[in-house]
Amino acid sequence: MMCCDNFKSRTLLENSVVTGATDGIGKAYAKELAKHGMSIVLISRSQEKLDQVANEIREQFKVETKTLALDFGEGTEIYKVIEAGLDGLEIGILVNNVGISYNYPEYFLDVPDLDNVVNKMININIVSVCKMTKMVLPAMVKRSKGIILNVSSASALYPVPLLTLYSATKSFVDFFSQALHVEYKSKGIIVQSVLPFYVATKMSKIRRPTLSKPSPETYVKAALKTVGLQMQTNGYLPHAIMGWITTSLLPTSLVIKQSMKMNQSLRARHFKKLKEKGD
Ligand SMILES: NC(=O)c1ccc[n+]([C@@H]2O[C@H](COP(=O)([O-])OP(=O)(O)OC[C@H]3O[C@@H](n4cnc5c(N)ncnc54)[C@H](OP(=O)(O)O)[C@@H]3O)[C@@H](O)[C@H]2O)c1
Repeated sequence: MMCCDNFKSRTLLENSVVTGATDGIGKAYAKELAKHGMSIVLISRSQEKLDQVANEIREQFKVETKTLALDFGEGTEIYKVIEAGLDGLEIGILVNNVGISYNYPEYFLDVPDLDNVVNKMININIVSVCKMTKMVLPAMVKRSKGIILNVSSASALYPVPLLTLYSATKSFVDFFSQALHVEYKSKGIIVQSVLPFYVATKMSKIRRPTLSKPSPETYVKAALKTVGLQMQTNGYLPHAIMGWITTSLLPTSLVIKQSMKMNQSLRARHFKKLKEKGD
């Protein structure tokens, strides 16, 4: 089976790069790849959190780590710094994980600080995926070997009202990944689009994992088993079932309508909580 074992043999002793690596899904990818013997380059904003996660990984898995403290929300200058940081490293796996969403579901024009959110979300969710891919893919092609895992979202499966911009950016990631996979698979490159539903992380504000809202560790362990088997995946069986129901069983118009209703209720709950706090 072309899952973890094959993926391990393809990548053993190589380096992997994980963006947004200090929390949630990115941290879980970093730790799971380290468990398979890979050295890890961790990229996030906070050097303190990077040092903490890098120490944890080094102690637990006895692999090398490197950290780069950068903000993907800023302009394209940061990519020169990343390129310099990766110089001389053979990158076997790139995990384009970093991403931001809205603080709460909102109508497009009412998103607080909209201009800034538009720039930041496009830089973080879209530009980072293109730029990081452009950086590592040439050497992967030369070696006829490499894996690029792009963390999209189930909100790319259908348009999600009140998370309009987020959903659209994740749809970009999904299309980009699927098309890139077809372009480069004959050169030995795997590009996978990963589309999780809710995972219990800071971003989702879900504290307690459940079967349908797993911990990032449970999610990533399952998702890595699909590498080489599926170029587009919900990554985790309960999410795959949810994906099948929403894309194959229900009419898209109904799914969009239901998402609108759910997000309207989450939005109302957000404002109720603010009112209770006296904000
Ligand atoms: N959680 C879910 O339910 C869910 C569902 C579907 C898809 N996803 C996708 O999964 C990915 C990871 O989400 P998550 O829930 O794990 O998020 P998370 O828990 O909020 O973690 C985000 C990570 O990214 C880093 N980060 C945030 N902004 C950054 C920036 N501007 N520059 C550099 N690093 C930055 C954070 O560290 P610092 O703050 O230290 O920078 C942290 O390590 C995202 O692409 C998200 O869209 C998540």
